[in-house]
Amino acid sequence: MPTENSPFPPDFIWGAATASYQIEGAAHEDGRGESVWDRFCATPGKVRNGDSGDVACDFYHRYPQDVALMRELGLQAFRFSIAWPRVLPTGRRPINEAGLDFYDRLVDELLANDIEPYATLFHWDTPQALEDLGGWPSRATAEAFAEYAEAVARRLGDRVRHWITHNEPWVHAWIGHSWGVHAPGRTSEADAVAAAHHLMLSHGWAVDVIRAVSPEAQVGITLNLAQAYPTSDSPEDEAAAWQVDGEGNRWFLDPIFRGSYPADLLERNELVAPFVQDGDLETISAPLDFLGVNNYFRFLVSAGANGPRMERHSENQHTDMGWEVYPDALRELLVRVAKDYEPRAIYITENGAAFGDIRGHDGQVHDPERTAYLQSHIAAVSRAVAEGAPVKGYFVWSLLDNFEWSYGYSKRFGIVYIDYPTLERVPKDSFNWYRDFISTRARTPRPSPIATG
Ligand code: FCB
Repeated sequence: MPTENSPFPPDFIWGAATASYQIEGAAHEDGRGESVWDRFCATPGKVRNGDSGDVACDFYHRYPQDVALMRELGLQAFRFSIAWPRVLPTGRRPINEAGLDFYDRLVDELLANDIEPYATLFHWDTPQALEDLGGWPSRATAEAFAEYAEAVARRLGDRVRHWITHNEPWVHAWIGHSWGVHAPGRTSEADAVAAAHHLMLSHGWAVDVIRAVSPEAQVGITLNLAQAYPTSDSPEDEAAAWQVDGEGNRWFLDPIFRGSYPADLLERNELVAPFVQDGDLETISAPLDFLGVNNYFRFLVSAGANGPRMERHSENQHTDMGWEVYPDALRELLVRVAKDYEPRAIYITENGAAFGDIRGHDGQVHDPERTAYLQSHIAAVSRAVAEGAPVKGYFVWSLLDNFEWSYGYSKRFGIVYIDYPTLERVPKDSFNWYRDFISTRARTPRPSPIATG
């Protein structure tokens, strides 16, 4: 139980998160196939500065050094994602064993250092071959994902105990298929709605597959969730905020925890109807061991002439992404999700901030804003825990500065600075802060029977 001084239970997990395309590099090695992000980055004008994940942090080769850093940090868990095109270069069998070998080595290295692997199966790097056949708007991609999940679980399921099927299906569906700002760069709302349904369907199938292969596994999904606050208590602003909540949060939470799409989003329901087959919602709502929550900001919403309008609260601090810093929204979100959906457990699978870090004359990176961000958000989590939200762990986004999608390398989220020309790793002040924080809270060893007897 949480104590008065520390609301975090002793077995609370302190971790850090990353994703394959953002850190691995080695884009053309050991038989890896092309992903939609390789194609998107190669398309002029899509990614700032023409950047790509070809080299990224070169984690593929430097992971032993990075695991050593994790150990220095006292990290208890590391969240990483597996690149589907490394395992199945064309999206379906045959398996590329060399691709799986990499994750095999990584998992062993983590375990040898007493760090628990939390593996995400999909963090947006769909094999391009599947996109060419119709991508996520097509049901066949969901079927291919179940095959992929099985191949990975068979190889790693004896050692990986925590699995996350998908990362932020909203972002992948909408930003990638409707806004065209992420790969695969589509611009159709109907595609986004279909992609979202197939992502969730494939999640449900993957849950079954992982449990069949590895019955001890803890399985969940990670959603990007954010509380939507109306700018006033007028019924119009409140309705606008509820709509934003529906489109971003409930569109995923309701099918997963209640087996139905939110009734108030009629337009979306009409768009998704043709893709929903008998039994899909039962599959999607398979009971989960945990919900992963990624949270960075809140929404501030007013009623505009053409629907909800996002407002900016100019007095509050904003990060280098332009995201408002408002930690109490994380508390409120966690308490609300716990109450409305009753997940068995929640992990904060991402939380963190980008700031324009520079390496000083002393060779160090002083990032007091990031430390303050992490402190205030961890404090918000502690208040949520005190109010009964079943939060079991927290993962900083990110361990390393990395490829921030359409922003390329221009946004730095790491607690470790990457000097991209040399790929040198420089732990930032926030790394030292997190290390000290973890060390004061690390699992207290269980008293031995002799000592207590
Ligand atoms: C999340 C993504 C992650 C990273 C952070 C900043 O939406 O899951 O890959 O880009 O935002």
